[in-house]
Amino acid sequence: MKNNARTISDNKKHDKTAKKKSLPPEKSLSPKKKKDEKKNIVETGKKKSGLKDSATFRRLAAHPRYKKHAERYQNILENIRDGYFEVDFAGNFTFFNDSVGRILGYSSEELTGMNYQQYTDKESAKKVFQAFNEVYKTGEYTEGLDWRIIRKDGAKRYIEASVSLLKDSTGKQKGFRSIIRDITERKQMEERYRRIFENAQNGIYQSTLDGRFIMANQSMAQILGYDSPEDLILSITDISRQLYANPEECMQFIEIMEKQGLVKNSEIQFKKKDGRMIWISRTAQVVRDEKGQVLYYEGIIEDITDRKDSLDRLRNALGGTVRALASVVETRDPYTAGHQRHVADLALAIAKEMDLPTDRIEGLRMAAIIHDIGKISVPAEILTKPGKLTDLEFSMIKIHSQSGYNILKDIDFPWPVALMVYEHHERMNGTGYPRNLKGNDILLEARILAISDVVESMASHRPYRAALGIEAALEEIEKNKGFIYDDVVVDACLRLFREKGYKLT
Ligand SMILES: [Fe+2]
Repeated sequence: MKNNARTISDNKKHDKTAKKKSLPPEKSLSPKKKKDEKKNIVETGKKKSGLKDSATFRRLAAHPRYKKHAERYQNILENIRDGYFEVDFAGNFTFFNDSVGRILGYSSEELTGMNYQQYTDKESAKKVFQAFNEVYKTGEYTEGLDWRIIRKDGAKRYIEASVSLLKDSTGKQKGFRSIIRDITERKQMEERYRRIFENAQNGIYQSTLDGRFIMANQSMAQILGYDSPEDLILSITDISRQLYANPEECMQFIEIMEKQGLVKNSEIQFKKKDGRMIWISRTAQVVRDEKGQVLYYEGIIEDITDRKDSLDRLRNALGGTVRALASVVETRDPYTAGHQRHVADLALAIAKEMDLPTDRIEGLRMAAIIHDIGKISVPAEILTKPGKLTDLEFSMIKIHSQSGYNILKDIDFPWPVALMVYEHHERMNGTGYPRNLKGNDILLEARILAISDVVESMASHRPYRAALGIEAALEEIEKNKGFIYDDVVVDACLRLFREKGYKLT
């Protein structure tokens, strides 16, 4: 389709001669006029601005009807920090305010009639030409045009320009008008952030709500096994399916993000491009618009596979040691063999029912498996004695929570395992032992351990009595709920047995 509009290049051809023609007469200063002008500056001590010299402006200012308006516009243009200028189609200044001179580092006299190529490097000049040409062809206003300039002193700075067509009073196009702003500091800041982003060791990303990446850095691609950020962004179209080892965790993530707007250091497994699994730690947040609508997620991930593996090895070793300790007690007390493991299973189920954090549950499990370790300091004949114990014998049994604490207190567990063992015979109303602690002074894990211990013991055979059965055990904790036993823990335990079909193994 033929375009009737003249482009800048068309104009340039025309304006090889028109360049001079298009300049208003007062801009084409003869050497004499230039001399007079310099003299004027010396005499008055004031520089003439392009604004005040503008023929248009002078014409307007002289007209009684427009005088006030002209003064107001003059005032505005002289006092804004942004540069305002008008150029003809060849890109020669025809009108400008003082800020243009300040931004470009030239005097008004030097700027008058100056072409944009004189303060722009070749690469930017091409970009600017294309942008102005587009405005010419479409007649549409454009903004956000980044433009590298070279000031008179040689310093390279960045400006941002908005450009529109300039028409005279008859509607005839006569050039362009533009507002410019020095954005060098902002550009330098962006460059600094870009370098941090690109060189970061952690993966940094932005993703859409429907599971695509909008942006990712090199480390993000590398951690997930992709060749480049572009490869990652193009290859992943469904984060939940392609990235998550367990897609349900993606749904949980979305739910938390909707409720809290933030996920901190959550550890999950991701699939790499080649299918291998890795552990990552992720911190992410939602980004909203001014109306509060969620726009996208942004986050940082770290590959913690190595750390996780060594931690797993350490935990396995610790778990093995703890199981070995547990078996020591059970070999001395065959009647209670399996008791600690059953208590641990029940305590774990109650803690899960109460929605305790995974890490805390792990600590509770560890304590439960060895909660009776102190019994190694109780004579075996008392532990295995059939029939009722004397008060003295019972008091000897009772020292096992203190002995257990003494054995464990110097082991540097990541959880207060020794305290849990110490307090597993304490009761909510202070009737327990060894310290007669009450209510919340007793660790929650110890309160869970206490109820699991009672239920398992009552339901099982003991050397001195037959099994009382699970119903009797549940009645015992229900009867004393909130009094001897923690009410929340009792409720969770009763729900497990009565509603969820939990059985002691
Ligand atoms: Fe015990």
